Amino acid sequence: MKTKPVTVPEILGRKASGKKITALTACDYAFARLLDPTAVDIVLVGDSLGMVALGYENTLPVTMDEMIAHTRAVRRGLHQALLVGDMPFMSYQVSVEEAVKNAGRFIQEAGAAAVKLEGGQRAAETVAAIVGAGIPVMGHIGLTPQSVHQFGGYRVQGKTFLDARQIRQDARHLEKAGAFALVLEGIPADLAGEITADVKIPTIGIGAGPLCDGQILVLHDLLGLTDGFTPKFVKRYAELGALAREAVEHYIEEVQAGSFPAREHSYQVAREDWPAKTGKNCG
Ligand code: KIV
Repeated sequence: MKTKPVTVPEILGRKASGKKITALTACDYAFARLLDPTAVDIVLVGDSLGMVALGYENTLPVTMDEMIAHTRAVRRGLHQALLVGDMPFMSYQVSVEEAVKNAGRFIQEAGAAAVKLEGGQRAAETVAAIVGAGIPVMGHIGLTPQSVHQFGGYRVQGKTFLDARQIRQDARHLEKAGAFALVLEGIPADLAGEITADVKIPTIGIGAGPLCDGQILVLHDLLGLTDGFTPKFVKRYAELGALAREAVEHYIEEVQAGSFPAREHSYQVAREDWPAKTGKNCG
């Protein structure tokens, strides 16, 4: 268990120390409480919460107000890891001014220590402005889910020479703009390794192989709380969804059978000194 909150300089220092950065998402107070006593370095309130907690088809409908409410809930349960708020679709694309204002909401209203936003070269000016306002920014390149329609689906990026070159350039632009770390999502492992060697800021991979400076997963995926298609890069470390369903079925059975609540789950009081039940006043 950590004893001091993780800071941005500490994350930057991991590049030189070689100690891998661990990051996970969280979307509410209960999951934050679960992660807080662990040694996880970064907790991201990712816009993936739109899918795992709000039931949207993708991350595009998630609003700033939803992200702020969820980040605030996580903040209340999290005291050790670096808390990063994910800027939702259209909260940073319209103008640099709006982006800075929305990034500021994560810090001021939700208690985040940093923000993350998607995009490489085209987002560099925005990243520089947010960093200029004193807010640490984590970049996110490769398979950026907010661009799902542009990509035509959730496809691995950087498979051609030109795409790979663009993603390498994206990484350099974000480093130059002042990002303190880069999420590399859905790119070939070799390309992630080249970028990791090329930039001085830490890279945090998801579906980007083992050569990054750290790894991030969506907590619901890791715990086995998601149904349906599981991408190749996800490792389900537990099957809590199945376990939870089993527990609920067991509860239903016991209530139907009358074996729950048992005596130990019920309150008893001694009634010896109560008046005898007689007449109309027995209640
Ligand atoms: O929204 C999210 O959870 C993310 C991570 C997968 C990096 O962006």
